[in-house]
Amino acid sequence: MANTVQLPIRPLLWLLHATSVFAAGVSHSARANSADTLKDCLLNAVSGNIAEVKLSSDAGFQTDHVRPHNLNFPWAPFAITYPTEASEVAKIVTCASKNDRRVQARGGGHDYTNKCEYLKKIYGRSRLSGTGLGAGDGAVVIDVKNLNQVQVSSEGIATVGAGNRLKDVCEKLHANGKRCMPHGSSPTVGIGGHATVGGLGLHSRLLGTSIDVMTGAEVVLANGTIVKASEKEYSDLFWAIRGAGASFGIVTSFDFQTNREPDNVVNFSYTVSSTSPANLSAAFKAYHRITTERNLDRRLSSVAVISKDTLLISGAFFGSKSDYAGLDFGSQIPGVTNRTLKNDFTWMGHMNATFKSISDLFPAQSYFYAKDTAVTYSTLPSNSTIDAVFEHLQTAKSGTDTWFVLIDLYGGAPNDAAAGAMSYPHRDLAYFFALYARSGSETTSTIHDFVEKAVLTYQDNKPENFLSYAGYTNLRIKGSPQKKYWGANLSRLEGIKAAVDPEDVFSTPQGVKPRA
Ligand SMILES: Cc1cc2nc3c(=O)[nH]c(=O)nc-3n(C[C@H](O)[C@H](O)[C@H](O)COP(=O)(O)OP(=O)(O)OC[C@H]3O[C@@H](n4cnc5c(N)ncnc54)[C@H](O)[C@@H]3O)c2cc1C
Ligand SMILES: *[C@@H]1O[C@H](CO)[C@@H](O)[C@H](O)[C@H]1NC(C)=O
Ligand SMILES: *[C@@H]1O[C@H](CO)[C@@H](O)[C@H](O)[C@H]1NC(C)=O
Ligand SMILES: *[C@@H]1O[C@H](CO)[C@@H](O)[C@H](O)[C@H]1NC(C)=O
Ligand SMILES: *[C@@H]1O[C@H](CO)[C@@H](O)[C@H](O)[C@H]1NC(C)=O
Ligand SMILES: *[C@@H]1O[C@H](CO)[C@@H](O)[C@H](O)[C@H]1NC(C)=O
Ligand SMILES: *[C@@H]1O[C@H](CO)[C@@H](O)[C@H](O)[C@H]1NC(C)=O
Ligand SMILES: *[C@@H]1O[C@H](CO)[C@@H](O)[C@H](O)[C@H]1NC(C)=O
Repeated sequence: MANTVQLPIRPLLWLLHATSVFAAGVSHSARANSADTLKDCLLNAVSGNIAEVKLSSDAGFQTDHVRPHNLNFPWAPFAITYPTEASEVAKIVTCASKNDRRVQARGGGHDYTNKCEYLKKIYGRSRLSGTGLGAGDGAVVIDVKNLNQVQVSSEGIATVGAGNRLKDVCEKLHANGKRCMPHGSSPTVGIGGHATVGGLGLHSRLLGTSIDVMTGAEVVLANGTIVKASEKEYSDLFWAIRGAGASFGIVTSFDFQTNREPDNVVNFSYTVSSTSPANLSAAFKAYHRITTERNLDRRLSSVAVISKDTLLISGAFFGSKSDYAGLDFGSQIPGVTNRTLKNDFTWMGHMNATFKSISDLFPAQSYFYAKDTAVTYSTLPSNSTIDAVFEHLQTAKSGTDTWFVLIDLYGGAPNDAAAGAMSYPHRDLAYFFALYARSGSETTSTIHDFVEKAVLTYQDNKPENFLSYAGYTNLRIKGSPQKKYWGANLSRLEGIKAAVDPEDVFSTPQGVKPRA
């Protein structure tokens, strides 16, 4: 077995096989031949345009092309390709699967874990220097950045190339008739990874998630076919890609129903600064009671950020100054030390400010650990649980000074779709509670423990009652991460996976695996 160049693509077999190849220390020339065959195939797929195929042996491959978002997880793909049209994507997928390689799409490259788990397991270390590995060990990455068109039809349906980043989507929709759609607040997140996993942002309470407004998608399948998926055609696939897209195909373009931009945006913030955990908690409890009312005005959105000695509550209201005045809850929050109010943002002015504040929070590359929990209206924490979490956050050893909890308020439109309408499982969602901790080098067990204890405390020590967002991948999830990400929808996903990608070509460590 060690002498064959046929690497079975099924992850377990692949893992065993690669381990034995490595241990035996043979077949270097066989693997070199396989690498050459694949390289030729990839170059043919893009009509010989070398700018579209970057190999691990190329100078600057790691620094200019791999660029992991989370430095905890260095990543060593075989090649990163930059196709310019769907037909090239299809040919690249076929090259990879014929050569028994895994394939990964890349949009904005903001995945939390860079999907490197297999390499870590195989080589038993987390740093890959590239020495001694040969060029044939990694996956083929299809970076879709060149698929970056945005067109808006007269019915307001936007066809959005999967390579656009959120800032591009926002700006291009604005330029195409002052349109907008719901999505997150990070300018550099890619719509490719975002709109295949959920896609929630400040205007989600009003308009829903990115997947809620998706009306169709062009998808390259594992067998190299290009299909148009919608409620009418390939409806199972369409159901799957709205929540678990990375395991099912490569979306080359999305169709989204857009909306008119809001005419006016009010922006508010309330800061509570205190060294007393009880004072911070008192403010948060008041905020929590108000904002988890099911009938809270959908035009009001909000984010709370908890950090050391600070609670920062901010938000946007998509309506007029006078409509906002009646909803302003600031006077009900005890201990506010600073407040700001801007009544008359334009849509783009507001988005610019929001994008900037998120860029300031998250560097392009860093060492970090993040863990989240979805909180539904039936799993809201009690006041004493909130007190316990603030006590932990403010007093426990954190292992880093750079940590914060983001509480992104949802409810409203994201809960309008029926529970099983798409594979994304978070209906009846109140908010996500997500703790993020960054450090100057690989994150330590002190940091992991600090983060995990906070989330577990927030869950009242009953993690089995909570799901996590598949957009915040976490390799430390115990048990079945797939169950955490997709809940009751996992079983149907596994069936669809067996039908469209039985060999697990689109393979990720925590992705949906085909039902046996
Ligand atoms: C700083 C930051 C802020 C964030 N804020 C929000 C937020 O406000 N709201 C929210 O909902 N999420 C948020 N996220 C999560 C984010 O939406 C997901 O991590 C998303 O998957 C990232 O997409 P990407 O294209 O940038 O990442 P990538 O790493 O390129 O892709 C992520 C995954 O999606 C797959 N994928 C990418 N493109 C395609 C495609 N065309 N077809 C099929 N699969 C594809 C990849 O294979 C990979 O598995 C945030 C993440 C970060 C890092
Ligand atoms: C906590 O709040 C009380 C008012 O409820 C205030 O008197 C006290 O100074 C605050 N303590 C700190 C440390 O902020
Ligand atoms: C929780 O605290 C909030 C804010 O202090 C308060 O309004 C609410 O009544 C409390 N809830 C319960 C169940 O005690
Ligand atoms: C409000 O505006 C500030 C800048 O003035 C910006 O940092 C913040 O992100 C905005 N918040 C919202 C929720 O719009
Ligand atoms: C008040 O909060 C705003 C927004 O967070 C910040 O820009 C400003 O500097 C703060 N002002 C003071 C006096 O702390
Ligand atoms: C938003 O930012 C863009 C640059 O990214 C700039 O061209 C535009 O004028 C800004 N718009 C507003 C309303 O601030
Ligand atoms: C999808 O998940 C939701 C939430 O867990 C559940 O209510 C629904 O029944 C599931 N749908 C399927 C098809 O399993
Ligand atoms: C490729 O897979 C799809 C989905 O399973 C299927 O409908 C199609 O017939 C397949 N095409 C070929 C050429 O096998």
